[in-house]
Amino acid sequence: MPVALADRAVLVTGAGGFLGRHVVAALRAAGCRRIVEPRQKEFDLTLEADVERLFAAARPDVVLHLAACVGGIEFNRRCPGEIFYRNVMLNTLVMEHARRAGVARFVGIGSVCAYPEHTPVPFREAELWNGYPEPTNGAYGLAKRAMLAQGQAYRAQYGFDAIHLLLMNLYGPGDNFDPATSHVVPALIRRFLEAAEAGAPEVVVWGDGLATREFLYVEDAARGILLAAERYDSSEPVNLGAGFEIAIRELAGLIAELTGFRGAVTFDASRPSGQRRRMADVSRARREVGFEARVGFREGLARTIEWYRRERRGASR
Ligand SMILES: NC(=O)c1ccc[n+]([C@@H]2O[C@H](COP(=O)([O-])OP(=O)(O)OC[C@H]3O[C@@H](n4cnc5c(N)ncnc54)[C@H](OP(=O)(O)O)[C@@H]3O)[C@@H](O)[C@H]2O)c1
Repeated sequence: MPVALADRAVLVTGAGGFLGRHVVAALRAAGCRRIVEPRQKEFDLTLEADVERLFAAARPDVVLHLAACVGGIEFNRRCPGEIFYRNVMLNTLVMEHARRAGVARFVGIGSVCAYPEHTPVPFREAELWNGYPEPTNGAYGLAKRAMLAQGQAYRAQYGFDAIHLLLMNLYGPGDNFDPATSHVVPALIRRFLEAAEAGAPEVVVWGDGLATREFLYVEDAARGILLAAERYDSSEPVNLGAGFEIAIRELAGLIAELTGFRGAVTFDASRPSGQRRRMADVSRARREVGFEARVGFREGLARTIEWYRRERRGASR
């Protein structure tokens, strides 16, 4: 069943996060006037009482469930227990209370990290259960799979309209640039910019540089989520990606060029590289959601670097 978001009360969990802010902006641009944007400090969604209170106050028709405990490779390695507990709790409770509240559609935001470590490239949705995720993001990936399984079970038992979107790695303006928790694109942008400004002779990048990743510009992701929320109604998960892969080595070279870094780029193979290759088969999203990424990678990176430069100038004033 198509769901017209402009006419609905839409609850966006994680609305204050990187993706959440872009999803809210896209909802506003689409004419949606009833958007509920809870923050963790008012509603801790790992606590059932807070989830209950949120649903009683928001009375949503549609839930876009983005809230999650996320971080980069180092955070995943240090805190798998916290990542597992918090994600399982908040996904399970938010979906259960969405069901009790009778929402018309629940959109669960999954992740490429849920795919098995060894999966034929490009990743097809049908391969999702065929192996354990790459161990450094195993806890996070399995918590995402549990949300998919919950949605499928609820659809089977209650006719609950839950869909699940497998997002590739995101990047773009508003990303997290904190070196302790950031993902690879903002982490490299920050390091290369700082090295360029300091005239440093060398930047050392973690890993052997041979692993590949796919990156989806965050505004494209937000547009894809709204399209799927309106058009997609199936228990089968859908990849949302840009449909290309780039080696970390090339990524580092591109960011060095765009940030004006002139020194040497070297790789520390003693540090973890994560999954060897990642690229999604995006044909289901194209066929069944009508989604195609629009922002080219070089263009998206340039916009992200420009945004971060402006942010830092603002912060230092
Ligand atoms: N970034 C990526 O590359 C990527 C890739 C694939 C999938 N995803 C998925 O996309 C979604 C958004 O990710 P993001 O990158 O935007 O992450 P983010 O910036 O860290 O945002 C996460 C949001 O979740 C909220 N949250 C966390 N714990 C919560 C809790 N206990 N109660 C209530 N809210 C809580 C945070 O709320 P506050 O802001 O109020 O603290 C924050 O707004 C996640 O589901 C993530 O798994 C992201």
